[in-house]
Formats: sequence, C-alpha cells, structure tokens
Amino acid sequence: MGLISSLRMTLIALGTKLYEVVEGKAKILAPDPSAYSREGKYDPSWAPVFYNPKMTFNRDASVIAVSLLSPKSILDSMSATGIRGIRYNLESVSPDETIFNDKNPAAITLLRINVERNGLKNYKITQLDANVAMHQFKVDFTDVDPFGSPSPFTLGAVASTRRGGVIALTATDLAPLEGSSRASCFRKYGVRTSKLSYSKEAGLRILLGKVVRDAALFERGVVPLFSFYKEYYYRLFVKLEPGAKRADKSLQELGTMYECTKCGYIFLDTDPCIRSCPLCGGSLLSSGPAWTGSINDEVFLDKMRSVLEKFSYLKSYSELSYLLNLLKNENKYKLYYNLSVIASKLRTNMRPIHKVLECLGDASRTHFNNVGIKTSREFKEVVECLKSSY
Ligand SMILES: C[S@@+](CC[C@H](N)C(=O)[O-])C[C@H]1O[C@@H](n2cnc3c(N)ncnc32)[C@H](O)[C@@H]1O
Ligand SMILES: [Zn+2]
Repeated sequence: MGLISSLRMTLIALGTKLYEVVEGKAKILAPDPSAYSREGKYDPSWAPVFYNPKMTFNRDASVIAVSLLSPKSILDSMSATGIRGIRYNLESVSPDETIFNDKNPAAITLLRINVERNGLKNYKITQLDANVAMHQFKVDFTDVDPFGSPSPFTLGAVASTRRGGVIALTATDLAPLEGSSRASCFRKYGVRTSKLSYSKEAGLRILLGKVVRDAALFERGVVPLFSFYKEYYYRLFVKLEPGAKRADKSLQELGTMYECTKCGYIFLDTDPCIRSCPLCGGSLLSSGPAWTGSINDEVFLDKMRSVLEKFSYLKSYSELSYLLNLLKNENKYKLYYNLSVIASKLRTNMRPIHKVLECLGDASRTHFNNVGIKTSREFKEVVECLKSSY
C-alpha cells in the first residue's frame, strides 16, 4: 500500500469521511459534510478538518493577487486541507518552497494526502502553533487564515515575512471590527470604537491600523495592496516595506473615524480629540486608532484587472471582475456615506442611488454597502442630492 492510501486509511479508521472537491485547478479530499451535519445543518467547524466552500471567492481572489506577487517562498500558516497553498502552486506561481502548517494533527494527515495528490514538489509540512511557525520561518509571502480574529497572529505574520514581502489576512470577527462588540474590539485591536453608519469600512480600517502598529514594532511601513469586505469577512494583502522612517510614515497615517450624531457628517482626522461636529456642533461618535490612507493600491488593482482574463475558469470570475472595477472606482474617495442612515436623519425617503450618483457627478458606489456611496463632494451636496427631486 502506498503512503497516500495508508494515510487515507488512517483518516477513515479515525472516522473521517471524505469526498472529493474540485476548486480552481485543485482536486482535494475534504471531510464529507453529509457525515457531519446536525439536524440538516452543517458548519465546517464541526468536521475534523476545516473546509468551507463559501470561502472559494476569498481563495479565488487570493490566487490572482499571489500570481502578481510571484513569491519564491510561501507560508500557509493555517492550512487545514491545504487548499490555499495548493492552489497558489497550481494557479499563481511556482515557488521554490511552500510551507504548509496547521496545529491540528488530522489536518496534517489530510493535507499530506492533498499535496501529494496535486503533484506538488517543493513543500514542507509542519504541525506547529502558527505563531511558532511564523517566528521560525522567513518567507516572501505569509498567509493567515484563522477562525475569527487574525489579531493574535499579525505580529507573527510580520516577523515571518521578509523585507519587501507581503502578508495576507482573513478576518471573520466582524462584531468587534464593525463596532457591535466594543469591549472585544478594545481587547483584540486596542481600539475604542463606536457603531458607525459606515461600520463595514470602519472595520477594515481598524484591522489595517493594527497591522500598521505591529509592523512598526519591526520597523516596517505598510502599503495596503488589495483589501475588501464580503458578507462575513475581510481579506487584505499588505506589503511590508523596511525601515524606521517608513514605519513612522505609516504610523502618521493612523487617525480617528468620526460621525456626527446630529447631522450625520462623517470624517477622518489625525486628531483623536475632536469633541464636536465641525458643521453643526453636534456630538460625535468616534473610533480609533484606524488607518486613514488608501485601502487599495491603484496600480495593484489595475494589474489584477489586467490579468483577470487568465483566470476566466474561476467560478467567481464575473463577481471578481465586478468587485475589482468597483474597488477601482471607489479607491480615490475616503469614507462611504450610508444613504439610508442620512435619509432617516433627514426624515426623507431615500432616492434611488443612481439618481444620487448622477446628481453628485464625482461619486461612486461602494462594495462595502449597497446603500452606500463615496464622493469628493461636500456633505451639504450629498444632503441636497439626496433630498432633491429632479
Ligand atoms: C479557517 S481554517 C483555515 C482554512 C484554510 N486556510 C482554507 O482556506 O480552507 C483555520 C485553521 O487554522 C488552524 N489553527 C487554528 N489556530 C491555530 C494556531 N494557533 N496555530 C496553527 N493552526 C491553527 C485550525 O486547525 C484550522 O485548520
Ligand atoms: Zn453635525
């Protein structure tokens, strides 16, 4: 019996029922959902090894981003079935080395099978705590894909990534990041937060702020290359640039996110102590420290759009194309206005978004929220366009 069959027999003997999944160009074995569902429901965390088909979009987008980074070495610090690292090898690049790591022994057995099945050559598999792995290995690209918050791993991700390298993070802890669990946000991110009307963007900026502060400990500056929100998670790719000066420059881009409780005006400012609304004097909600700079790199987005065609086999191809175009359009503006919140403050009906956009001219929809818009126009113009009935 070959190694793979005997590993497979081990998993079956341990009671793990497997089925074949085809995702992108990878064919892997994953726990069979029908064997682990309860009362007709299934959560991937109930299986002995985690595989979530709903994260295919996240992985598809990541495959394209990694193809542009061309890392020579990759650390897939939380591999589970190995699907991410395998797909990077089959679809993005041919790295000299990929390190697959997971602390779960069942995952190690399954990912050994999956890596072999997909014909990978230059790889290493380790069963370590991700933070140990990230302090042990140095690579060009580190992927952190945890359950919930990436915050216990951001410092490790910076440590494992060579100068000029890139880290990618997934965050599914939306409650603290979007301001619903304020105590948890302070615990995990050191941020005093509020529930803001643009909470989805606020969460991403809080997460980026945490990366900036952790990168600064290692004297690295950050450049967010590609960041987005989707349904129940954030995914971001951040380049780490060496040098204390770059770290200081990134720290200078931290600030506070504000929102007036009276008129709905929203703004970012590096001053963390603004107490009243500059427009109407109303009291302010605030959240910070958070990243105030661009959340996507224009050039990187353009490159992603230009290579997209090569990935037309992906299930999420049209959705990705839509997302990339939207990210490009919205990237030149800062925070998004939540039109339904402003309309209710004004006690007016919400006009169709395309009418508001037409009225403002220099404005875009945002991927964060389908009732959100971004614009360079002043707040009073947004209010006028929302109210006007032309
Ligand atoms: C969300 S799953 C990863 C999914 C996988 N990257 C994918 O795309 O399908 C999180 C994985 O991290 C592993 N894990 C959780 N905490 C860890 C830690 N501190 N160190 C190493 N692995 C960890 C879990 O065993 C699990 O397999
Ligand atoms: Zn105000």
